[in-house]
Amino acid sequence: MTRTFGRLDILVNNAALYIDRRHRLLELEEEVLRRTMESNAYGPLILTQAFVPLMKKKGYGRIVNVYSGIGELSDLGSSWPAYRLSKILLNIQTRIIAGELRGTNVLINAICPGWVRTGMGGLGAPRSVEEGADTAVWLALLPDDGPQGDFFRDCQPIDW
Ligand SMILES: NC(=O)c1ccc[n+]([C@@H]2O[C@H](COP(=O)([O-])OP(=O)(O)OC[C@H]3O[C@@H](n4cnc5c(N)ncnc54)[C@H](OP(=O)(O)O)[C@@H]3O)[C@@H](O)[C@H]2O)c1
Repeated sequence: MTRTFGRLDILVNNAALYIDRRHRLLELEEEVLRRTMESNAYGPLILTQAFVPLMKKKGYGRIVNVYSGIGELSDLGSSWPAYRLSKILLNIQTRIIAGELRGTNVLINAICPGWVRTGMGGLGAPRSVEEGADTAVWLALLPDDGPQGDFFRDCQPIDW
């Protein structure tokens, strides 16, 4: 990336696995937990660690972590345990890294897209992909005085 482009302005940590629909945490196979954590929590962290130095060097960066309402502590249920744990870890990362980035022009925030008609959300979901992506695009293009370490749905701050 540094050699070819010399900069990275926007990182959207969107990829995620959802492979534990019918599992319970007490019986969760280690492999399911490990794969989910690697994709949904460690992957975003490793990418963020890799690209923040480049963003800081250029004095500009926007990082968007895509989480899920399933990982909101304020309304926590017990199904999809690996996915839920991974998204909680992603949210905590967002907060910790935001603190570490204070005073730089690299902003990191998180969005919940809502229930969206994708491979994961299925055809019955009420939101189109465009609607699901709206807030991520807004956060990716924040002005320099934009929020840092916050959580959003429909461009509005939310509790998590
Ligand atoms: N859809 C919803 O209703 C909903 C609700 C709340 C949150 N979200 C979040 O929104 C984001 C996007 O979800 P989606 O609905 O678009 O899911 P999706 O339809 O299942 O697509 C997920 C994408 O992530 C990629 N991916 C997964 N693990 C990866 C890995 N280790 N390395 C590289 N790529 C990987 C998949 O690639 P392959 O196809 O190659 O496997 C796929 O392109 C996710 O973070 C999800 O948790 C979605």
